[in-house]
Amino acid sequence: MTEPLDEAERERPRLGRAAPVRVRVPAKINLHLRVGDLRPDGFHELSTVYHAVSLYDEITARSGDTLTLTMEGEGAGHLPLDESNLAIRAARLLAEHTGRPPYARLHLRKNIPIAGGLAGGSADAAAALVACDALWNTGLTRDHLADIAAEIGSDVPFLVLGGTALGTGRGERVSPVLAPGHTWHWVLAFADDGLSTPEVYAEIDRRRANGIADAVAGEADMLLAALRQRDPEILAATLVNDLQAPALALRPELMRTLMAADDVDALAGVISGSGPTCVFLAADSRHAAAIAASLERSGVCRSTATVTGPVAGARVV
Ligand code: C5P
Repeated sequence: MTEPLDEAERERPRLGRAAPVRVRVPAKINLHLRVGDLRPDGFHELSTVYHAVSLYDEITARSGDTLTLTMEGEGAGHLPLDESNLAIRAARLLAEHTGRPPYARLHLRKNIPIAGGLAGGSADAAAALVACDALWNTGLTRDHLADIAAEIGSDVPFLVLGGTALGTGRGERVSPVLAPGHTWHWVLAFADDGLSTPEVYAEIDRRRANGIADAVAGEADMLLAALRQRDPEILAATLVNDLQAPALALRPELMRTLMAADDVDALAGVISGSGPTCVFLAADSRHAAAIAASLERSGVCRSTATVTGPVAGARVV
């Protein structure tokens, strides 16, 4: 007679079954985001500086007989767990590229808010890609993985890479920024509800078509120079995001959050990606903690997180 397996026994890899793989993936913010022309494929030409920060989602991949996804944490119960989930899409695409069945049991622990402008969905895709790659032992090169990542979404290649990187094309072509080792301190201010990225891009098109003259970000040179100087006061003056005006047009109350930068003594405040998360730059970790406490007291956001960057991209832990 077979004894029922206890939890520890079930976790132990059986003969012929790969051991579970756990992958941690960061959120991203954009330090510089210039939105260029709308392309025939429906995407905008971008020039952006991505920066990976220490707010993480985690995916565990286990051997299975089908492809399944479960989740816990931020947004559990709201995020679809079917084919429309980017983590499932990533696993399926990797299986297609490597000619194997897409069998894995994925479990996602979410901390990155959904639709927050922090690329949470893309992060989960990057994590699923790296996790299944390890679970299935595909032997793919980093370049091949980056190509698959680009098929899933514009931000996914960066979340595999991590660090600080220049993004061009629709954001999927990434090259690392050779900034000297320096840790930057940020406070993220989360909103109650998410913003839809396509709607924010549609709003920028509408504003441009109507001749609304929002300032347009220039080249990233000033920001890249500021990163090299390791001086947060200098960096503060160079943060820019073309999606900020359309995000504010769609969610005017975010102006209160951004304007709080002065009151809470932050060096700068900017919307992350397509929003609604606002990012505040701090001089050091103590300053970041003080900014976070002031923001929480002021009631201009749902909650905050103090984070640092740059950090690594999706990695097996
Ligand atoms: O690439 P991703 O799936 O994350 O893009 C989500 C949506 O954001 C796109 O469908 C498009 O509406 C918009 N987008 C864009 N230009 C980009 C990136 C995204 O218009 N460079």
